[in-house]
Amino acid sequence: MVFPDYRPRRLRRTPQLRSLIRENRLSPDQFIYPLFVMPGKGVREAIPSMPGVFRISVDQLAGEAKELISLGINHVILFGLPEKKDPMGSGAHAKDGIIQRAIKELKNKAPGIMVTTDVCMCEYTSHGHCGIILSGEVDNDTTIEVLGKIAISHAKAGADIVAPSDMMDGRVAEIRGALDENGHDKVPIMSYAVKYASGFYGPFRDAADCAPQEGDRQGYQMDPANSREALREATLDVDEGADILMVKPAVAYLDIIKSLREEFDLPIAAYHVSGEYAMIKAAAERGWIDGERVMHETLLSIARAGADIIITYGAKEMAKIL
Ligand code: PBG
Repeated sequence: MVFPDYRPRRLRRTPQLRSLIRENRLSPDQFIYPLFVMPGKGVREAIPSMPGVFRISVDQLAGEAKELISLGINHVILFGLPEKKDPMGSGAHAKDGIIQRAIKELKNKAPGIMVTTDVCMCEYTSHGHCGIILSGEVDNDTTIEVLGKIAISHAKAGADIVAPSDMMDGRVAEIRGALDENGHDKVPIMSYAVKYASGFYGPFRDAADCAPQEGDRQGYQMDPANSREALREATLDVDEGADILMVKPAVAYLDIIKSLREEFDLPIAAYHVSGEYAMIKAAAERGWIDGERVMHETLLSIARAGADIIITYGAKEMAKIL
């Protein structure tokens, strides 16, 4: 049927008709909200390059969690700023480390919120790389052993999901083994299976103070030019025992989200990263775009590409308008 018999505009005439045929909807319960946790008491520090996002101390977490739950958001992902850093990143698996304290606080005071943790070393190493450096390079096999220890320490503190973001080879299998041997077989792994070496992480690296002191992360994160390699990385993580596959960043990699969606039947998460969030905020501040509308449209594009789960700094403002 073609024009004039068929007229697509018939179904766009009223808001009710548009809503009836809507193919994708966002819902607050598909969001994971990132939280930056720092030492101290009563701290709530704005992050200049991420308007609306704060670094908060452990005692502020319960209040934050209650606000999220009241908005219908059930999940957070935690990033920590430790008191001290060292070359081995030992703060990442310290029993009383910042993340371990944060998990316990949330589990005690706001048990309704599910806690995902970022399993990585870059916030804890003095050199800022995501692993242990041996003879001038991030050493894969030494690093994944430490990642196993970090995952165990998060699970012990009560983490509901662990999310390795380091991009070392073999880390999903190593973490799965470490968790299972220590009685944490119920803790799922949301693997940052496809994580690109991206300029969009800029504001996050300020927020979490984790930019590498020397060099960059191209020796372990993926080349933005590659898409077949994304399928290979994801296949490895599935075989190693990942429960959820993540693509990161999201907006500049919608094609990758879509091809993972088509290729795999595991849940797909996408990380709408700091730079992608900051660009919307910056343009909106200048009055160049309608920030709320563009945020909604952006998150819809991520869902439309095939992501089930969206990690976004815009979760709260979106939940308020959905
Ligand atoms: C690494 C990590 C990074 C982000 C999440 N986990 C930074 C990096 O790889 O350099 C970036 C998230 C964002 O930009 O919002 N632990």
